[in-house]
Amino acid sequence: MALSAITPAAHTEHLAAFRNILGNDYVFTDDENRNNYAHDETENLHFLPDIVIKPRTAEELSEVMKICNQHRIPVTPRGAGTGLSGGALPQLGGVLVSFERMNSILEIDERNLQVTTEPGVITEVLQNAVKEKGLFYPPDPSSRGSCFIGGNIAENSGGPKAVKYGVVKDYVLNLQVVLANGDIIWTGANVLKNSTGYNLTQLMVGSEGTLGLVTKIVLKLIPHPTYDLLMLVPFNDLEDAGAAVSAIFRGGFTPSALELVEIDALKIVSDFVDSTAVPIDDNVAAHLIIEVDGNHMETLMSEMEAIAELLTAYNCGEVFFADDAQQKAELWKLRRRVAEAVKLAGYTIEEDTVVPRANLPALIHGVKELGRKYDLHAVCYGHAGDGNLHIRIKKEGSIYSLNNPEVIPALKALFQLVHSLGGTISGEHGIGLIQKEFMDIVFAPANLQLMRAIKKAFDPNDILNSGKIFDAV
Ligand code: LAC
Ligand code: ZN
Repeated sequence: MALSAITPAAHTEHLAAFRNILGNDYVFTDDENRNNYAHDETENLHFLPDIVIKPRTAEELSEVMKICNQHRIPVTPRGAGTGLSGGALPQLGGVLVSFERMNSILEIDERNLQVTTEPGVITEVLQNAVKEKGLFYPPDPSSRGSCFIGGNIAENSGGPKAVKYGVVKDYVLNLQVVLANGDIIWTGANVLKNSTGYNLTQLMVGSEGTLGLVTKIVLKLIPHPTYDLLMLVPFNDLEDAGAAVSAIFRGGFTPSALELVEIDALKIVSDFVDSTAVPIDDNVAAHLIIEVDGNHMETLMSEMEAIAELLTAYNCGEVFFADDAQQKAELWKLRRRVAEAVKLAGYTIEEDTVVPRANLPALIHGVKELGRKYDLHAVCYGHAGDGNLHIRIKKEGSIYSLNNPEVIPALKALFQLVHSLGGTISGEHGIGLIQKEFMDIVFAPANLQLMRAIKKAFDPNDILNSGKIFDAV
């Protein structure tokens, strides 16, 4: 049976039940609240939920899920709404679950280097709390000042530090999950090694709220490095910048961040945050931002010098070393706010391509060719060290990719290119609503069938974030 919007009679009945479970103050049907939860950071999409609920505990959520499962009511989980693939958009209406009240860090276990947290904690708040104990939780999406750790789990987020430290999946040890039928489970154990049956923990990571609702999270931590150094390197040729990236690793270095920002993106973000930190030189095509970190300053300094020396073979311009914390913060601010700035400048469609690192120049070359072929303007930026390039697209008059006859062929061509280079269509933003029609470019029918079978095993009535990753059944 297909999911349908809630009928008025059922609406009244479900509302009464939800209010009974959560209390009157945490169930909303007013326009303001519904509108607040109708969008995320994906393009300019807007879908109203019928009801917004804000549970405080897994037990409350479990009771809500029992009702939704029985009556086949669509349920859309939402963290802070910073997602870029439409994962938190309630496009079928129904119940939107906001995790904003489940926002406590429950325990920092300094003996085992672990933290147990609720999903509604802001990523940077968690990072700062563990840093006070000398500990490090590295995954740091650009939105870390506002995104929730639960959303990061849902999307298997990355960020600049992933190149050295890995992504969210590399830190998740165990999850408490409310299943579609209301059952509450723990997926694993709080241990560093685990070969005990199927790995439900890792299945849950990156499943975009389609398999279960994460209500507690146990993360691995590592000791916080003492020092970091940052440099900015200009290139006159975008493909040279791309080629330099893999050379750094082949040279024996593993930077703690290796980011690329194309000049058009830098111009837009510099205006947006009103910064003159990086002088704009019209001969420059792109910059690499390179960070190293560790516990021995002398080692880091000699690593930086050696990387700078290596880059001269790739026609780089004059290297700028950030001298102090303020300069570093300014450069990171520019980098982190690119997505927001270019979106406001009309580059509304964002892609999250990822290729094997050494294929970055081929990807960049192909993107520019596609831009000419499809008459659109693309700016590239992102986590070059991971081969993970964000491509923001501006096409006059086209603000959505979703079902847009003008944009879809260009995106298909882009993803076919990515696939031909051994890559895939999302490195850290997820599939959500806007990329699902491209899944068959990178997966065989057998892969898709297996994924659908997994979804059915967890959520037979297809109520959990239905229509994300795959069409609703
Ligand atoms: C970034 C986000 C958009 O890298 O993933 O800025
Ligand atoms: Zn990114």
